[in-house]
Amino acid sequence: MELKGKTALVTGGSQRIGRALVLALAGAGCNLILHYYRSAEAAQETAAEAEALGVRVLLKQTNLSDGEGAASLADVSNVDLPPVQVLVNSAAVFSKDSLLDMTVDEWSKTFRVNLRAPVLLTQAFAKALPSDLGGAVINMTDWRTARPYPDHFSYSIAKGALDTFTKTAALSLAPQIRVNAIALGAMLPPPDQDQAYLDVLASTLPLQRPGGVQVIADSLLYVLRNDFVTGEIIRLNGGAHLQHP
Ligand SMILES: NC(=O)c1ccc[n+]([C@@H]2O[C@H](COP(=O)([O-])OP(=O)(O)OC[C@H]3O[C@@H](n4cnc5c(N)ncnc54)[C@H](OP(=O)(O)O)[C@@H]3O)[C@@H](O)[C@H]2O)c1
Repeated sequence: MELKGKTALVTGGSQRIGRALVLALAGAGCNLILHYYRSAEAAQETAAEAEALGVRVLLKQTNLSDGEGAASLADVSNVDLPPVQVLVNSAAVFSKDSLLDMTVDEWSKTFRVNLRAPVLLTQAFAKALPSDLGGAVINMTDWRTARPYPDHFSYSIAKGALDTFTKTAALSLAPQIRVNAIALGAMLPPPDQDQAYLDVLASTLPLQRPGGVQVIADSLLYVLRNDFVTGEIIRLNGGAHLQHP
């Protein structure tokens, strides 16, 4: 897919990894619908950086754990941009719970943001895409679904279902729309930890370092541009899956 002049919708695009994805797409010439939830100021800053790369950016604020959140974000009928041809589902919560202490509220919120929103957005995107245009969906997931975190119980299960959704949607929407996922390992410290925490964690990996955002941006552009890749879950984890549990 040639990206120049296309429109991309990125959820959770205000900061951290979502910001890097927005800027990579802007650098490739995509106009953007940049979704955010609470980080209005960061979203405006990221939008300004993207616009400085010569593309148009529209900001949309939505709580994706709301019943109507995904539907209201998907409604781009009054948006003055070409049809959305790229959807990047990056917004997520990294809830900390275990099987024994999890609550239905936490489980539901995690599933609404991390799974239901990507599914509903993909559905709306596919329905709205004109039949003569191709499309691509990228889901940001976590390689640890293969080796789940017991202390991030709801998160692990929701991301595991997102992996399965990626493959199911790739079959359902082919040949018009390709659906892939990027499964991250140690890339950025969690919001409540610092870089030193991540560096220690990543020093035990075969590649002995964290990934950072540039490799994610590079992978995003690779998957979007390569028209023969669908149903793939591309692991970016410094070789962690090669280690014994
Ligand atoms: N960081 C890592 O190393 C890592 C590892 C594995 C997987 N991942 C995955 O990669 C993606 C990006 O990671 P990240 O660390 O950059 O994510 P993050 O900072 O934890 O969250 C991304 C964004 O999700 C949005 N969000 C949270 N709750 C929301 C809600 N109820 N409604 C709408 N938006 C909501 C937030 O937007 P606002 O700030 O605007 O509120 C936030 O900026 C996520 O899918 C994550 O699971 C990351």
